[in-house]
Amino acid sequence: VGSGASGRMLLAKGSLDRKLYVAKQIDFQAGNNEAALSYALHEARILFLLRHPRIVHLHDFYPQSSSIFLVLEYCEHGDLAKQIQQRLRDGGMAFDPETAIKWWYQLLDGLDFCHEHGVLHRDLKPSNLLLDSEFDLKLADFGVSSLIHSPPAPERVGSRRYMAPEVVEELKYSTKSDVWSAGIVMMEALTLK
Ligand SMILES: Nc1ncnc2c1ncn2[C@@H]1O[C@H](COP(=O)(O)OP(=O)(O)OP(=O)(O)O)[C@@H](O)[C@H]1O
Ligand SMILES: [Mg+2]
Repeated sequence: VGSGASGRMLLAKGSLDRKLYVAKQIDFQAGNNEAALSYALHEARILFLLRHPRIVHLHDFYPQSSSIFLVLEYCEHGDLAKQIQQRLRDGGMAFDPETAIKWWYQLLDGLDFCHEHGVLHRDLKPSNLLLDSEFDLKLADFGVSSLIHSPPAPERVGSRRYMAPEVVEELKYSTKSDVWSAGIVMMEALTLK
Protein backbone atom coordinates (compact mmCIF):
# COMPACT_ATOMS: atom_id res chain seq x y z
CA VAL A 1 0.00 0.00 0.00
CA GLY A 2 2.96 2.33 0.12
CA SER A 3 6.35 2.99 1.52
CA GLY A 4 7.71 5.44 4.03
CA ALA A 5 11.04 6.58 5.33
CA SER A 6 11.20 3.66 7.76
CA GLY A 7 10.13 0.79 5.53
CA ARG A 8 7.53 -0.85 3.33
CA MET A 9 3.81 -1.06 4.01
CA LEU A 10 2.42 -4.41 2.87
CA LEU A 11 -1.20 -5.42 2.49
CA ALA A 12 -1.53 -8.75 4.31
CA LYS A 13 -4.27 -11.28 4.96
CA GLY A 14 -4.66 -12.85 8.41
CA SER A 15 -4.12 -16.62 8.16
CA LEU A 16 -6.86 -17.32 10.72
CA ASP A 17 -9.46 -14.59 10.29
CA ARG A 18 -8.78 -13.91 6.54
CA LYS A 19 -9.13 -10.16 7.24
CA LEU A 20 -6.92 -7.55 5.59
CA TYR A 21 -4.21 -5.82 7.59
CA VAL A 22 -1.29 -3.57 6.81
CA ALA A 23 2.12 -4.83 7.86
CA LYS A 24 4.74 -2.12 8.36
CA GLN A 25 8.04 -3.84 7.63
CA ILE A 26 11.12 -2.24 9.11
CA ASP A 27 14.44 -3.77 8.10
CA PHE A 28 17.34 -3.88 10.44
CA GLN A 29 20.53 -5.85 10.86
CA ALA A 30 22.48 -6.26 14.06
CA GLY A 31 25.01 -3.43 14.28
CA ASN A 32 23.34 -1.69 11.36
CA ASN A 33 20.25 0.48 11.07
CA GLU A 34 19.73 0.48 14.83
CA ALA A 35 17.91 3.80 14.65
CA ALA A 36 15.18 2.14 12.52
CA LEU A 37 14.88 -0.63 15.08
CA SER A 38 14.53 1.76 17.98
CA TYR A 39 11.90 3.84 16.12
CA ALA A 40 9.92 0.64 15.40
CA LEU A 41 10.06 -0.52 19.04
CA HIS A 42 9.10 2.95 20.18
CA GLU A 43 6.15 3.13 17.76
CA ALA A 44 4.91 -0.30 18.88
CA ARG A 45 5.11 0.65 22.58
CA ILE A 46 3.19 3.87 21.97
CA LEU A 47 0.51 2.15 19.85
CA PHE A 48 -0.01 -0.51 22.55
CA LEU A 49 -0.57 2.32 25.02
CA LEU A 50 -2.98 4.25 22.79
CA ARG A 51 -6.07 2.14 22.18
CA HIS A 52 -8.72 4.45 20.73
CA PRO A 53 -11.05 4.46 17.69
CA ARG A 54 -9.25 7.52 16.29
CA ILE A 55 -5.81 5.92 16.50
CA VAL A 56 -4.71 3.20 14.10
CA HIS A 57 -4.99 -0.13 15.88
CA LEU A 58 -1.85 -2.24 16.35
CA HIS A 59 -2.88 -5.91 16.16
CA ASP A 60 0.48 -7.59 16.41
CA PHE A 61 4.18 -6.96 16.50
CA TYR A 62 6.90 -9.50 15.75
CA PRO A 63 10.43 -9.95 14.36
CA GLN A 64 11.08 -12.13 11.31
CA SER A 65 14.61 -12.70 9.98
CA SER A 66 16.09 -9.19 9.78
CA SER A 67 12.79 -7.29 9.87
CA ILE A 68 10.29 -6.13 12.44
CA PHE A 69 6.62 -6.19 11.46
CA LEU A 70 3.94 -3.96 12.96
CA VAL A 71 0.54 -5.37 12.01
CA LEU A 72 -1.96 -2.52 11.76
CA GLU A 73 -5.65 -2.25 10.98
CA TYR A 74 -6.11 -1.64 7.25
CA CYS A 75 -7.43 1.83 6.39
CA GLU A 76 -8.73 1.23 2.90
CA HIS A 77 -8.96 4.85 1.78
CA GLY A 78 -5.29 5.40 2.43
CA ASP A 79 -3.98 8.66 3.79
CA LEU A 80 -5.31 12.21 3.66
CA ALA A 81 -2.41 13.44 1.48
CA LYS A 82 -3.49 11.00 -1.25
CA GLN A 83 -7.09 12.20 -0.98
CA ILE A 84 -5.97 15.82 -1.30
CA GLN A 85 -3.80 14.98 -4.34
CA GLN A 86 -6.72 13.12 -5.91
CA ARG A 87 -8.97 16.17 -5.45
CA LEU A 88 -6.36 18.43 -7.04
CA ARG A 89 -6.03 16.04 -10.01
CA ASP A 90 -9.83 16.02 -10.37
CA GLY A 91 -10.05 19.81 -10.74
CA GLY A 92 -9.47 21.06 -7.21
CA MET A 93 -12.98 20.86 -5.78
CA ALA A 94 -12.81 21.22 -1.97
CA PHE A 95 -14.10 18.50 0.37
CA ASP A 96 -17.65 19.12 1.46
CA PRO A 97 -17.86 21.03 4.77
CA GLU A 98 -19.55 18.10 6.61
CA THR A 99 -16.60 15.83 5.81
CA ALA A 100 -14.02 18.48 6.71
CA ILE A 101 -15.75 19.23 10.03
CA LYS A 102 -16.02 15.51 10.81
CA TRP A 103 -12.26 15.09 10.19
CA TRP A 104 -11.49 18.14 12.31
CA TYR A 105 -13.42 16.69 15.29
CA GLN A 106 -11.88 13.26 14.75
CA LEU A 107 -8.37 14.66 14.52
CA LEU A 108 -8.81 16.65 17.74
CA ASP A 109 -10.50 13.70 19.47
CA GLY A 110 -7.54 11.41 18.67
CA LEU A 111 -5.01 14.08 19.55
CA ASP A 112 -6.73 14.82 22.86
CA PHE A 113 -6.53 11.12 23.73
CA CYS A 114 -2.78 11.11 22.94
CA HIS A 115 -2.18 14.16 25.11
CA GLU A 116 -4.28 12.79 27.98
CA HIS A 117 -2.06 9.70 27.88
CA GLY A 118 1.10 11.77 27.89
CA VAL A 119 2.02 11.34 24.23
CA LEU A 120 3.05 14.11 21.81
CA HIS A 121 2.62 13.00 18.18
CA ARG A 122 5.14 15.49 16.73
CA ASP A 123 4.61 14.61 13.07
CA LEU A 124 1.01 15.48 12.21
CA LYS A 125 0.63 15.90 8.47
CA PRO A 126 -1.85 14.60 5.88
CA SER A 127 0.23 11.52 4.99
CA ASN A 128 0.13 10.41 8.65
CA LEU A 129 -3.68 10.60 8.88
CA LEU A 130 -5.46 7.51 7.57
CA LEU A 131 -9.02 7.06 6.34
CA ASP A 132 -10.91 3.82 6.93
CA SER A 133 -13.73 2.29 4.89
CA GLU A 134 -16.20 4.90 6.25
CA PHE A 135 -13.78 7.77 5.53
CA ASP A 136 -13.28 8.12 9.28
CA LEU A 137 -9.91 9.54 10.24
CA LYS A 138 -7.23 7.79 12.34
CA LEU A 139 -3.90 9.08 13.60
CA ALA A 140 -0.89 7.01 12.49
CA ASP A 141 2.91 7.03 12.31
CA PHE A 142 4.04 7.48 15.90
CA GLY A 143 7.71 6.90 14.98
CA VAL A 144 8.90 10.30 16.25
CA SER A 145 6.31 10.75 19.00
CA SER A 146 7.53 11.41 22.51
CA LEU A 147 6.32 11.35 26.08
CA ILE A 148 5.26 14.69 27.55
CA HIS A 149 6.93 13.96 30.90
CA SER A 150 10.24 12.79 29.45
CA PRO A 151 10.62 14.70 26.20
CA PRO A 152 13.91 14.61 24.33
CA ALA A 153 15.98 17.82 24.11
CA PRO A 154 14.31 20.36 21.80
CA GLU A 155 14.73 19.32 18.21
CA ARG A 156 13.24 20.30 14.89
CA VAL A 157 11.02 17.28 14.37
CA GLY A 158 8.27 16.75 11.79
CA SER A 159 7.81 18.45 8.43
CA ARG A 160 8.58 22.15 8.21
CA ARG A 161 5.28 23.07 6.52
CA TYR A 162 3.32 21.83 9.58
CA MET A 163 5.78 22.92 12.30
CA ALA A 164 4.74 25.35 15.02
CA PRO A 165 7.00 28.43 15.32
CA GLU A 166 8.50 27.20 18.62
CA VAL A 167 9.48 23.93 16.93
CA VAL A 168 11.16 25.75 14.03
CA GLU A 169 13.11 27.71 16.67
CA GLU A 170 13.96 24.47 18.50
CA LEU A 171 12.26 25.60 21.71
CA LYS A 172 10.16 23.28 23.87
CA TYR A 173 7.69 21.04 22.00
CA SER A 174 4.31 20.99 23.77
CA THR A 175 0.76 19.77 23.20
CA LYS A 176 0.11 23.18 21.59
CA SER A 177 2.72 22.44 18.91
CA ASP A 178 0.68 19.37 17.87
CA VAL A 179 -2.50 21.50 17.82
CA TRP A 180 -0.74 24.00 15.51
CA SER A 181 0.15 21.19 13.07
CA ALA A 182 -3.44 19.87 13.25
CA GLY A 183 -4.67 23.37 12.32
CA ILE A 184 -2.37 23.56 9.29
CA VAL A 185 -3.55 20.10 8.16
CA MET A 186 -7.19 21.15 8.35
CA MET A 187 -6.50 24.42 6.56
CA GLU A 188 -4.92 22.38 3.77
CA ALA A 189 -7.91 20.00 3.67
CA LEU A 190 -10.34 22.94 3.50
CA THR A 191 -8.51 25.06 0.93
CA LEU A 192 -6.47 22.38 -0.92
CA LYS A 193 -3.55 24.83 -0.72
N1 LIG B 1 -2.89 1.06 8.34
C1 LIG B 1 -2.75 1.55 7.10
N2 LIG B 1 -3.71 1.41 6.18
C2 LIG B 1 -3.55 1.94 4.94
N3 LIG B 1 -2.45 2.61 4.53
C3 LIG B 1 -1.46 2.79 5.41
C4 LIG B 1 -1.54 2.28 6.74
N4 LIG B 1 -0.42 2.61 7.40
C5 LIG B 1 0.33 3.30 6.52
N5 LIG B 1 -0.27 3.41 5.33
C6 LIG B 1 0.29 4.09 4.12
O1 LIG B 1 1.71 4.03 4.17
C7 LIG B 1 2.28 5.34 4.30
C8 LIG B 1 3.50 5.32 5.21
O2 LIG B 1 3.12 4.91 6.54
P1 LIG B 1 3.82 5.55 7.85
O3 LIG B 1 3.64 7.03 7.81
O4 LIG B 1 3.35 4.82 9.06
O5 LIG B 1 5.32 5.13 7.56
P2 LIG B 1 6.70 5.91 7.73
O6 LIG B 1 7.75 5.04 7.17
O7 LIG B 1 6.84 6.29 9.14
O8 LIG B 1 6.45 7.14 6.81
P3 LIG B 1 7.16 8.55 6.64
O9 LIG B 1 8.39 8.54 7.47
O10 LIG B 1 7.38 8.64 5.18
O11 LIG B 1 6.13 9.50 7.16
C9 LIG B 1 1.12 6.22 4.81
O12 LIG B 1 1.30 7.58 4.43
C10 LIG B 1 -0.08 5.57 4.12
O13 LIG B 1 -0.19 5.99 2.78
MG1 LIG C 1 4.41 8.78 7.68
